[in-house]
Amino acid sequence: DFTSAAREHELPLGLTYDDVLLLPGETDVNPSAADTGSWVSRRIRVAVPLLSAAMDTVTEGRMAIAMARQGGLGVLHRNLSIEDQAQQVDLVKRSEAGMVSHPVTTTADATLGEVDALCGRYRISGLPVVDDENRLIGIVTNRDLRFETDMDRRVAEVMTRMPLVTGPVGISADDAMALLAQHKVEKLPLVDDAGRLRGLITVKDFTKSEKYPLATKDDAGRLRVAAAIGFFDDAWKRAMALVEAGVDAIVVDTANGHARGVLEMVARLKADPVCAHVDVIGGNVATRAGAQSLVEAGADGVKVGVGPGSICTTRVVAGVGVPQVSAIMEAARACKPAGVPVIGDGGLQYSGDIAKALVAGADTVMLGSLLAGCEESPGDLVFINGKQFKQYRGMGSLGAAQSRGKARSYSKDRYFQGDVSDDKFVPEGVEGQVPYRGPLSAVAYQLVGGLRQSMFYVGAATVPQLQDKGQFVRITAAGLKESHPHDIQMTVEAPNYSSK
Ligand code: XMP
Repeated sequence: DFTSAAREHELPLGLTYDDVLLLPGETDVNPSAADTGSWVSRRIRVAVPLLSAAMDTVTEGRMAIAMARQGGLGVLHRNLSIEDQAQQVDLVKRSEAGMVSHPVTTTADATLGEVDALCGRYRISGLPVVDDENRLIGIVTNRDLRFETDMDRRVAEVMTRMPLVTGPVGISADDAMALLAQHKVEKLPLVDDAGRLRGLITVKDFTKSEKYPLATKDDAGRLRVAAAIGFFDDAWKRAMALVEAGVDAIVVDTANGHARGVLEMVARLKADPVCAHVDVIGGNVATRAGAQSLVEAGADGVKVGVGPGSICTTRVVAGVGVPQVSAIMEAARACKPAGVPVIGDGGLQYSGDIAKALVAGADTVMLGSLLAGCEESPGDLVFINGKQFKQYRGMGSLGAAQSRGKARSYSKDRYFQGDVSDDKFVPEGVEGQVPYRGPLSAVAYQLVGGLRQSMFYVGAATVPQLQDKGQFVRITAAGLKESHPHDIQMTVEAPNYSSK
């Protein structure tokens, strides 16, 4: 292993994505028939093995919703207040389901301005109105607001009052659809015998479940979401707020998961009955020993990557890290025997790197730069010389650490510098921009499409088969040059390739 080899001056070799290729093999696998399903953690399965990074220019509620719809999983970043992060979890959990079990509601004395704000925040078109015992008394939709100029008016003045078309709790999907169609309405509140609101079914949710057949959902049919925490200070309070809001997995997200505080946080979360239904993922590590420690602390998933990220400077600032293919191979040696899934985090530049990560021993991969240019990532479009870009920055960058207008930055403690003032912070990341890529659906289609091609070439119908059958060949700088387009001036941009 690394430690003993280094001690004897037999330095191990570290390889990364660009150092290897996958051997083509005998195949009868059709790319479109390949099954890309895999495990994020012990209990969370995804149809598509992609996670969006817990970074403030990659994953907030909107990206998490889009990732889950595409069959992956979003990890909400933690560089914001506990309340704001918990609210993002709530946003995802309420966003779409066969039935919304805890619909967002309003009251008769709320103002239209408040209704408008709630609808905007949750991207919904109307709210059931309830009394203080949660009995349904009406419904207010954007049709009631459309021609309204006075936003201080009360809901009571404009809402549609009972009797409304409602359904009983436990109504079947077909019966609900029939009721919606018969009465030409878009929302069907579900009420119990006492008239209390117990759920909501909307036309939109029906069309969405047809539109997103791969969506990552929990047992109640709600989209799944993960969220990052630290291990320092109010991290425990944060974890409890996220669990309360319904998070599916907590990621103890630090630059060094082999640190005592991180291992203790993983163990403490695993031991608490409040977290019984939540998977706990720890990271990041880049050695077998680091992964082993997380496994022993009880982690349900292990995140691997020290310094491979496109915005990372850890390897130059601290001189520490392991090239990512070797890091994944080493970590998998501890995780595989224990049945703990591995997340390969950072350093992926092209779709072909996904299959390389899986063959190295990862079960899923986490992406930052490949997703930061999506419509759903936080931040505005920036126009430069007629081209569109979006901001992308490391969570260890000065910008992320300096919190800008927020109450406080939580990103310093990811780098174990929670105790230093902003002007004494030693950054381990940079800030910049990436080209705008359009909606996640198009980006994910190309990434998963690339993985399907890998599976076809290798002859693997499933991810476990890919992990078993996939074999690497090591290449040289000349081989890498040959791999990329050469001896041509590209005139048309491909949707899945850009020269850097
Ligand atoms: P990619 O290559 O997908 O990497 O852009 C995303 C991953 O990079 C990690 N990350 C950082 N690492 N300094 C670092 O050393 C940073 O400032 C930084 N910010 C993010 C993180 O693991 C992410 O998922």
